[in-house]
Formats: sequence, C-alpha cells, structure tokens
Amino acid sequence: MSVTPHAGNGKITVPDIVSRKSHGVTHPRITCLTAYDYPTARLLDDAGVDMLLVGDSLAMVVLGYENTLPVTIEEMLHHTRAVRRGTRHALVIADMPYGSFHTGIEDSVRNAVRFIKEAGAEAVKIEGGEKRLELIHRLVEAEIPVMGHVGLTPQSLHALGGFKVQGKTAEAAEQLLRDARAVEAAGAFSIVLEAVPRELAAQVTRELRIPTIGIGAGPECDGQVLVIHDLLGLHLGRQPKFARRYAHLAETIAQAVGQYCDDVRTGQFPTDAESYHVSNGVREQEASRKEAKVRPLR
Ligand code: KIV
Repeated sequence: MSVTPHAGNGKITVPDIVSRKSHGVTHPRITCLTAYDYPTARLLDDAGVDMLLVGDSLAMVVLGYENTLPVTIEEMLHHTRAVRRGTRHALVIADMPYGSFHTGIEDSVRNAVRFIKEAGAEAVKIEGGEKRLELIHRLVEAEIPVMGHVGLTPQSLHALGGFKVQGKTAEAAEQLLRDARAVEAAGAFSIVLEAVPRELAAQVTRELRIPTIGIGAGPECDGQVLVIHDLLGLHLGRQPKFARRYAHLAETIAQAVGQYCDDVRTGQFPTDAESYHVSNGVREQEASRKEAKVRPLR
C-alpha cells in the first residue's frame, strides 16, 4: 500500500512541508493528524491529510494509560508499521517515546534509526527545546528528518507539574522562544507548538524559517495537528478546549452495538438473506434420498 517518496506520485515529502512555510504569505495551512492503525491511516490519507503522526498519545487514547510515559519503543514501532502500510501520500512521522532518547546520544540515534529502517517512518518527533539541540543535530546528520516539539511536552509531565499551558509569563515566553530557535538551529524541518498562548505562537511562527504546527496554539501557526480520537469524538476522557470535535463516534458506536445486541437477543439477526444455503444439487440429492427412504419395498 505505501509508496516510496519520489516527485510526481503525489507523495508528500519533508521538502514539500518545508516549502509550505507561510513567510507572511497566505499558503494553504499544513494539516496533520495522529494515526495509530492501518484503517485510520488509509482513511486519513485518502482524505488528503498532509502528515500522519504516530503520536505517543497512543499510550492514552488506544492503550488506556493515564499518561504517555509507559508506552514502549516496541509498541510505537508496531503501530508505526501499521500506519506505514495504510499510507500512500502523507508524510509519516513517528513520535520517539519517553525513555527512547534520554539515555545518551548513541542510544537515541540507534532508536531513531529503528523507526526509519524497521517501521518505515520518514521522520521522527522529539519533545524538548534547547536541551535537545545536540541530539537533533546528530539525527539530522544521520539523515533522519526531525520534527521538534516545544511548549507543553507531555513527557515532561512530572517536571511541569501537570498538563498546563506554557509560556504565559514573560520569562517563560523568553524560554520558549529560545527553545524554538534551538530546535530550528539544530536542523529540525518543523516544530510542534503545544498549549502556548496564541500571541507567542504567532511570534514564533513569524521568527522561524521552518513551519510551526500548532495544537492549542492559535490560528497563526503554519499548520495544525489534532489527536484523531478528539476530532472524531472517540476520546473517553476530558477533552481540552482546543480540540474541536467534528463527529461523535463514541455515541454512534454505542448506538450501533446496542442495536446489534437487541437484534441478536430477539432473533432478528441474522435473517435468511444473511445466511448461507446449500447448493441446488445438494438439495435435490437430499430430497431424493428422503423419497427413497419412504418408498414401500416391493
Ligand atoms: O503524541 C501526540 O499525539 C502528540 C501531538 C499531540 C502533537 O505529540
């Protein structure tokens, strides 16, 4: 199903994304959604989404963990492969999970290589700003395109003291600007800005030469990303204020499954039209066997 990037087949590449930087001109903004499995990747890809992020939000929305910290490299690789198989056009980006880039540069590069080599990702995402400068640089040197991620970085949950909007004070805003500049200087091709004030995200977007992809960062970013479960109304927990719900699939599923259970319990499913039948020849054979049995002996 997946295709190798080359010009002319509609495949979206890293340089395509970089060329979509607005630079003050109004370009169509970049679209990005999370995906974790084959059918969702196919549907989102067919719908024309530019980038599919196999986010470590997998831990929460698919695997049922309370935060993103427990998800493993093996789990992320497994889901990235499924997304890869379902994607023709979109750029596939794998999120490096907590622990996969925190134990030294060599380990981190080795782990990132696995996402490209074993799972077919075309880029990796790394949370963190200034402190990831050297790592991002080394990954780029190893031909691995990197998407940065600053602002609210869920892997820093304990250090940040919760999922909170970042960059609200003058000092915090300065730090966020330094983080974003460092990510760009290290060679990242784009950067996620999560849960930061709109005005600050607009400033970062104006200053950087690489595209900014916002999530809870206002409309001035060069693109937007959402967790697909939030967009579809499939997320069972509390929804953040920035996550616009475009469908209510949790309700649709509950209704469909309730109807199925009713139909099975009352014998209305399956009907004769939903059943298989023996072929005509077998039916005739069976009928003549029965007839022979009842024929009186002479
Ligand atoms: O893991 C994820 O889904 C993310 C996005 C929210 C950017 O990092």
